[in-house]
This record gives sequence, C-alpha cells and structure tokens, in this order.
Amino acid sequence: MDKYIIKGGNQLFGEVEISGAKNAAVAIIPAAMMVDGVVRLENLPQISDTDKLLQILELMGAQVRMVNPSTVDIDCSHVSLSNKIFSLTRSIRASYYLIGAMLGRFGKAKTTMPGGCNFGVRPIDQHVKGMKALGASISIGRGLINAETRDGRLRGARIYLDKVSVGATINIMIAAAMAEGLTVIENVAREPHIVDLANFLNSMGADVRGAGTDVIKIRGVRSLHGGTYALIPDQIEAGTYMTAVAAAGGEVRINNVIPRHLECISAKLREMGVTVEEQGDAVIVRRDGPLERANVKTQPYPGFPTDMQPQITTVLCMAQGTSVVTEGVWDNRYKYVNELRKMGAEITVSGKTAIIEGVNHLVGAPVAACDLRAGAAMVVAGLCAEGTTVVEDVVYIERGYQDIVGKLRALGADIVAVTEPDEPEQERRRENAG
Ligand code: UD1
Repeated sequence: MDKYIIKGGNQLFGEVEISGAKNAAVAIIPAAMMVDGVVRLENLPQISDTDKLLQILELMGAQVRMVNPSTVDIDCSHVSLSNKIFSLTRSIRASYYLIGAMLGRFGKAKTTMPGGCNFGVRPIDQHVKGMKALGASISIGRGLINAETRDGRLRGARIYLDKVSVGATINIMIAAAMAEGLTVIENVAREPHIVDLANFLNSMGADVRGAGTDVIKIRGVRSLHGGTYALIPDQIEAGTYMTAVAAAGGEVRINNVIPRHLECISAKLREMGVTVEEQGDAVIVRRDGPLERANVKTQPYPGFPTDMQPQITTVLCMAQGTSVVTEGVWDNRYKYVNELRKMGAEITVSGKTAIIEGVNHLVGAPVAACDLRAGAAMVVAGLCAEGTTVVEDVVYIERGYQDIVGKLRALGADIVAVTEPDEPEQERRRENAG
C-alpha cells in the first residue's frame, strides 16, 4: 500500500485494541534462535518488521508456523548461518540483535550492518564494545559484520555502557544469556521491552535479573528450553492513538495496554487539557475542549519517549500558545517538520529544539512519511486537518503499526489506503524501509 488518503475533521469514538510491542517482538524473535525446542510467541504484532525477522529465521533453517495471525511457533533446532539473509538484514534496524543471538547460539555471527529509520547517525559502538567484552572478536567492513569466539562460547564480563542504549542493552542481554559465567551490564536502558525480553529469556530457562533498573545481571546457562510467551502491548502504538484522539477530539477506549508504561504520555496529555483515565488494562482518552501549550523533553524510559516526539509535536501545533519540544535521544529527528509546515504548522527548529507556535487548525496537504513515527505523526495531523491529506511512503508506517487504517476507520476516521503499481523508486524505498 503506497499512500493513505485522509479527510480530516472527524472526531474519534469507540474502542481500539493495541497490538503486541514491536520493539519487544524484534528482540525476542532473534533471541528465539538460541532456544532448543519450540518457542510459541503470542500477541505478536502483524507488521513488516516482524515478518522480515521471521523470514530471516526461515532462511537460516527455522520452522516457522503461524498458529493464528498473532501467534507463531518458531523451531530453531536446525538453524545455521547463511548469506541468504543479507538483503533482509540490511533493510531493518533490529537485525543487529542477530549478532548477540548468533554469538550465543553458534559462538560466531555473520550478518550485515542494520538498516532502519534514518534520524541521524545511529552508531553501534556500544553493541560492539559489549560483544568484545564477552570475548568475541568483531570485524566490520563493506557493510558486513563478522564475529567469532575463540572456543565457541562467550564469557561473562562486566560492561559499563557509555550511553544509555536500548539496542546495546538488549543485544548484550541476548548474547550473555548463554555465555559462561556472570555478566553485569551497568548504565543500561530501562524500556518496557527490555523487561519483556528478560521475562522471555527467563521463561525459557535463562537467569536474568535487574531488568527495569540500571544494572542487569545475567548468569549464563548452557541451554534454553522451549515454551510459550505472550508479548507486552505496544507502548508507542497506544501513545499514537492517544495523540490521535487529542488531535482530532472525541473519546476512545484504548484496550490491551499497560497503563504504567503510558504514564509519561498520559501526564503530558493531561497537562495539555486532555482527559486520560486508567481502567484496568485500558485507558480512556477524551478531548472536548481546547488544547493547552506544553513543553516536552524526550528521554530514555521512564522519560517521555523519543518515539512519541513527532506525534506530540503534531498535537502541540493545535495548542494555544508556544510550546517547546527538546529531543534528548537522537541528533536529527525533526525532518518531518517540513511536512507539517506544508499543512500550515508554525515550527522553528534549532538543533535539538523545536519551537511550536499554536495555530487554529492544520490544512490538508500532500505529505510524506519520512520514517515510521514521523509517518504516524502525518496520520495524526491528517485526522485533525481541514480538507484532504495524502500521506505518501506509508511503507514506513506499516513497519510498526498493525492495520492502522482499519483501526482508525473503526473509530470513525475517514482514511483509506490506496495501492498503486510499483514505480522503480517506490520499489527501492520499499527495499530500504525498515
Ligand atoms: C531503539 C528503538 C527506537 C528508539 C530508540 C530510543 C528498537 C528496535 N528501536 O533504537 O525506536 O527510538 O531505541 O528509545 O527498539 N548510541 C550510541 N552507540 C550505540 C548505540 C546507541 O551512541 O552503540 C546512541 C544513539 O546514537 C542514540 C542513543 O544512543 O543517540 C540511543 O540509541 P538506542 O537506545 O541504542 O536506540 P536503538 O536501540 O537503535
């Protein structure tokens, strides 16, 4: 599907089900490679990133069987390293987790540098530092990553991350799960999907403690056994629907969430005059009055998530007064602002800061999804804009949002997906999206 056409102005009412967490799924699927036996994953999101990771495992020799659309059985008993995976590993960011998983499983790894959303330089030096500390030698050249251990097994080590990195924390956890001895990782990230990965590994027989704090201790085990695991709901998908209601107005019950994971988003929306009520595993979001200005700074969890920055900036475009958004994680995450300007937004960006002058309304326009969350922000903008918004390059959005069009239509939005024959340029983008 190439573009979404949105006629803005409909308020949103009803209920929406949140899918399993993308960022947990993209860590847990590679980790399943280390398990002896069948891993059953439930609450798996149906998105292109998870499809690609399952295909990678299949190309390596895994048996992958969909039990139903959100449950998969993965049997990695007969996997081996393969060059066939390279075009897929190049197209997604999370393929870097294969390094930790392959080292854990085979004592060596062979993959490519990861692809993924482009919001500035995305180094993997902390991943490499961690693998080296665990005893791997790593060479990177011509876009390929090769890693080896001297005797086929990693050894536990003490690792201090120089930067709080979600990816490095996860990759080292995966690698250390089957290393010999104790690994201690300090200054780690605390995102909900890090806890989810630890819970997954432990339920397969690993010994991981401290996930959710800033020190994680992993006592390596000889083998991991099969089992069933249900992924947590997606914090960012839920947050995106919360901002959609804030922008468009209305009242929506957002089901299958962990409200605690949403606290930073709920608190900010309340500050802006939106009602957010927690009810068990749901939040009810209502906006029937004007939006107030607010300042937002993105930070590692439990701070306001950088992956909600484009969506909240979009909502702030409609708030009364001047808001300031500061990006605290990435160097360059404001490319989408040019697209919002096409819709009448008044935003000035200086380095990591965006100053947003509230406008009465946005106006529909042709815009592009520059990356996954930027694309979600364009959809949020289109829902509340006057007139028609056409969002191009939605392949980025479909990396991380399961059936966003169907879910929004069920809430009363006027949004349709339009498929067009692939042009060479679109084909290229599709290959590179991830
Ligand atoms: C993950 C998320 C992404 C989110 C980000 C921050 C996944 C698949 N993706 O990305 O959606 O935006 O967390 O919440 O879970 N850094 C280094 N060296 C490294 C690694 C990271 O300097 O080796 C820096 C990055 O440039 C960035 C910061 O650390 O400034 C955080 O990056 P990190 O948490 O690693 O992001 P990802 O895991 O790539």
